[in-house]
Amino acid sequence: MDEPVIVVSRRWPAPVEEELTRRFRHVRLNTDDVPLGADRLRAALEQADVVLPTVSDRLPAELFEGELRTRFLGNFGVGYNHIDTAAAAKAGIVVTNTPRVLTDTTADTAMTLLLMIARRAGEGEREVRGGRWTGWRPTHMMGADVTGKTLGIVGMGRIGVAVARRGHFGFGMPVVFYDPADFEPDHGIPGARRVGTLAEVLAVADFVSLHMPGGAENTHLIDAAALATMKPTAFLVNSARGDVIDSAALIEALRSRTIAGAGLDVYEGEPEIPQGLVELDNAVLLPHLGSATLETRTAMGMLVLDNLQDFLAGRDPSCRVA
Ligand code: DGY
Repeated sequence: MDEPVIVVSRRWPAPVEEELTRRFRHVRLNTDDVPLGADRLRAALEQADVVLPTVSDRLPAELFEGELRTRFLGNFGVGYNHIDTAAAAKAGIVVTNTPRVLTDTTADTAMTLLLMIARRAGEGEREVRGGRWTGWRPTHMMGADVTGKTLGIVGMGRIGVAVARRGHFGFGMPVVFYDPADFEPDHGIPGARRVGTLAEVLAVADFVSLHMPGGAENTHLIDAAALATMKPTAFLVNSARGDVIDSAALIEALRSRTIAGAGLDVYEGEPEIPQGLVELDNAVLLPHLGSATLETRTAMGMLVLDNLQDFLAGRDPSCRVA
C-alpha cells in the first residue's frame, strides 16, 4: 500500500489536516464538514484503503458486508461503540482509537459539569443574559457545596481515575468507586474505596460521575431503579456515552426531584436532545465537549496518524482495538 487513498469523515484541526496531506498524496478531506452518512461511508469503505471516522459516525455490521477495499479504520476518538469492531475485524480491517491523549481534558469537562450543576451556573448565566437578575440577596440561587462531599466514580479507567484525583486533591472529596472489570486501578488516592456493586456507589455518593464505555453491556445502566437508589440531594454527571443513562427515567427523576440535578455532555441519540431535558433548570447540558480543546483534538489527530504510520509500516498499531 505505497500510496494509500485516505478518506477523512469530518473536518480535523488544521495542523493535523496539514500533516496528513504533507505525508500522503491521496487524502480526501471533508472540507464542508457535512457528516458522510451510511451511503458515503459505505462508498469510502469500497473505494479507499484507509477510512478515518469519528465518534459521530455510525458503522454498524451491515456496512462491512461484501467486497471492501479498506484495510485500516483509524477512529478519531477514544470511544468506538459506534463501530461494529467484530464485523470490521471479520472484514479484515484493523481498527484503532485515541486513548490517553484526551484523559485530562475529558476529566476537566466532567469537573466543569459537576461544578456547574452544584453551583447552578447554567441557571445563573441564563438569568443574567435574560435580564432577570435583580441583585445580590442572601437566599439567591443557593447551590450545593462541592468541597468535602463524597465523589462516586462509576468506571475507574483512565478518565474515571483522573476525575477522582481532581475531586480528591482539588476539592477534598472522599472517593468511592465501582468498576466491574477485574483489575486494580492505579489511582494513588488515599482512602479511595472500591465497592462491589453499582448500587453501593449510588447510595452513598453526593456526586456520581459516569465513566463506563457505551454499547450494549452498559445501555441504560442508570435506569429508574438506579436513580431511585441515589440520594435526593445527589447529582449525576455523564461525560461518557449517552446511552448509559435511560434519558426518559432521568427526566422523570429530575422533575420529581428523586435526584437534585444532572450535568450532561452526552445524550442518547445525540445531537437530538429530548425537549423534557431542555426545559429542566436542574440539568446542565453541554454539546459533547469532552475532549474539545485545540491541544487535545490536535493530539488525537496526530495519534491517529501514528497508528496509521505503524499500520502502513507493517507494525501493530499501539492503539489497536480490532
Ligand atoms: C471520545 O473520544 O470518545 C470522546 O467522546 C470525544 O470527545
